[in-house]
Amino acid sequence: MSASNKSLVFVSEDLVFNLSNENVSYIFRVSPEGILEHIHFGGAIAPTHGLAAGPRREFRCTVLEFQGIKNYSLDDTPQEYPLFGTSDTRQPALHVVNSDGNSTNTFLYKSHEVVLDKPLLNGLPSARGNTLGNKGGDQKSNDSETLLLTLVDQTSELEVTLRYTIYADHDVIARSATIRNCGSKEVLLHNALSSSLDLPQSEYELVHLRGSWSREFEQERMDVPHGRFVIDSTRGTSSNAHNPFLAVLSRGADERKGDVYGTALMYSGNFAISVEKNEFESVRVSAGINPFNFQWRLQPEEEFVTPESLQVFSSEGLSGMSHVWHGFVNGMISPPQFDGVPRPTYLNSWEAAYFDVSHDVVLGLADKAKSLGVEMLVLDDGWFAGRDDDTSSLGDWFSDPKKFPNGVEETARLVKQKGLKFGLWFEPEMVNKESQLYRDHPDWLIHVPNRTLSTGRYQHTLDLSRTEVVDYLYARLDSFLSSGLIDYVKWDMNRVMTEVGSAGLPAERQLEVPHRYMLGLYSLVERITTKHPSVLFENCASGGNRFDLGMLRYMSQGWVSDMCDPIGRLSIINGASLLFPLSTLASYIGPVPNHQNGRQTSVKMRTEVGFFASARGLSLNEEDLNASEDEIKDAIKLYKASAQDMVDGDFSRIKYQDNEVCWQLISKDGRRVYVGYYHILSAPNLPYRRAKLVGLDSSAQYKLEHGNQVFGGDALMTLGIDLPYVDAMQHQDDTDYTNHLEKGDFTSRLIVLERT
Ligand code: DGJ
Repeated sequence: MSASNKSLVFVSEDLVFNLSNENVSYIFRVSPEGILEHIHFGGAIAPTHGLAAGPRREFRCTVLEFQGIKNYSLDDTPQEYPLFGTSDTRQPALHVVNSDGNSTNTFLYKSHEVVLDKPLLNGLPSARGNTLGNKGGDQKSNDSETLLLTLVDQTSELEVTLRYTIYADHDVIARSATIRNCGSKEVLLHNALSSSLDLPQSEYELVHLRGSWSREFEQERMDVPHGRFVIDSTRGTSSNAHNPFLAVLSRGADERKGDVYGTALMYSGNFAISVEKNEFESVRVSAGINPFNFQWRLQPEEEFVTPESLQVFSSEGLSGMSHVWHGFVNGMISPPQFDGVPRPTYLNSWEAAYFDVSHDVVLGLADKAKSLGVEMLVLDDGWFAGRDDDTSSLGDWFSDPKKFPNGVEETARLVKQKGLKFGLWFEPEMVNKESQLYRDHPDWLIHVPNRTLSTGRYQHTLDLSRTEVVDYLYARLDSFLSSGLIDYVKWDMNRVMTEVGSAGLPAERQLEVPHRYMLGLYSLVERITTKHPSVLFENCASGGNRFDLGMLRYMSQGWVSDMCDPIGRLSIINGASLLFPLSTLASYIGPVPNHQNGRQTSVKMRTEVGFFASARGLSLNEEDLNASEDEIKDAIKLYKASAQDMVDGDFSRIKYQDNEVCWQLISKDGRRVYVGYYHILSAPNLPYRRAKLVGLDSSAQYKLEHGNQVFGGDALMTLGIDLPYVDAMQHQDDTDYTNHLEKGDFTSRLIVLERT
């Protein structure tokens, strides 16, 4: 990736703003009245070229004319920052109750400024502006440029600064807004979104990721309906029900072709993304903090910063969009110290021993891990004071003296002496009532006084809107990490919020709690990850209940789902890969029958589905490990040999149908191509099928790693590769690369090709 020397933001004398890199342009203008009118987001248009189309002002039987201006209706005008109450009846970007009690505002252009690079957001996660990130380097590079544009409402004396960052090497526009109270009285924010995008009239579909525990990231696709379609969270986490991501597609777009507009929020709390189509077929995509149950009191001279919203455009279908997201997440969001760094294979204690962990159990697992070639031992839940099951002890982050008489640190030291890395599980944000922490600080949990609190897994959420709670958690975590013995932290979070209230805030600020919680959480993870930059953090929330770009800013990878059955995982990885690169995904080979759905699958199938992730390992007890020792050793060997490619290779979805799935990964240097093929239910005598690979060098030849066949890159992409099939008679020899799938359900084949 190289920094461009060209400017990225162009402003004409008549205030047309053109943000362009080689592939995309984002264009808007200031109207004579001062309204920001959106013109284009899509393929690149040179700033010196005339625009063939833009907002129109022609007679239409609309009755609303903004400020009485003939034929100028905001309801019919694409805008950058739409407001309520002055002739636009659609979803506004901002809804404020002014000090005189009304909610009518008109924000007009005041000034603008273009800065090199990208100012970080205060207290919130945001994408970096240059590729060097925390590795240091020239902050004045042209990797990105940011337009800061200020609008003002003269009557209420509110100002809004909109931030737009465009990147030279990523087809992404990063947006956020700062609302400033320049008046002398308090105002109430009821809705303060991060981005609003008006798309040109056309036929659109949308795709989003819905789910639940153990079945996260299912893709749902539909026509954009008239009215408003909303995905959101009210749970205090971004949630597994809807990931804070949505893409609008030109009708019929598929993996390889069609226009795709993706929006994702760098936010981990209550969010809403809506798509609204009005009577003129205008389509508005709005994204930000969920306005439901949100209110923020903005005092004179205070400002409110919205989370960052990221917008991607690709004309090359869903895969084109995913490639943009993958490059951007790796280069601009994930912690830079782990960018391109292979992750260690691991053995995790959870499905091996659940709460029955102890010094001896851990050392036994460590010996086994070592003998299998595994590189890290992870001690999951159950190691801290009194934690024998899930009813107690969250909050008491001290080693259990019964299970670890000399402390977990001593166990870690001995594990490391064996030449393994050591990882430790925490669930910092939670507390059980059965804990010393709760007895000492009964008001430290999120609660509403005089109400019986709902529980989730017997636990409650600590009130991270309070600095003393954040400080306590920081001190406890820091005391373990400062030992220098912990290489990896799994940061879990296993319930969502109910009865939301804080003893630390007055009555009139109770609706601020969910966002203040997020600010507290971000400050905690920012502090602890900055103090311990060499510790690899994994984000987990019962799997994917808070798997979002906000958390990925601090934690390089995530436990994408508790679903470890490979068949259950196929749709999860397929969906998650719309947005997230493999570098961010963790997986392990779990036990059979699978603990989530009872399915029985081979070690081979489990290995080959788990293959497409960066952090790969095992969670099996000694008996299971012994029973499949050779196969597991091979799996670990495979994982170690491909570890580099999983963090910087290029992943593509090739096929996803009811009964079969095919994925592909090309190593960064283009020398290795991994093709994973998964066949779910067995059937004899199926038609022969092929999969067309993508992104290969058409002039190169590729040789099978195990076999002699050589194929041209052009042939693999245009003719395709034969897919393995079930040979009902099983009479052919197995020298052919396709081999035959074993008879039976749940079979797979990993094909590795090497460029010659
Ligand atoms: C939920 C996680 O998703 C699991 O992997 C495991 O860490 C448990 N919590 C431990 O309680």
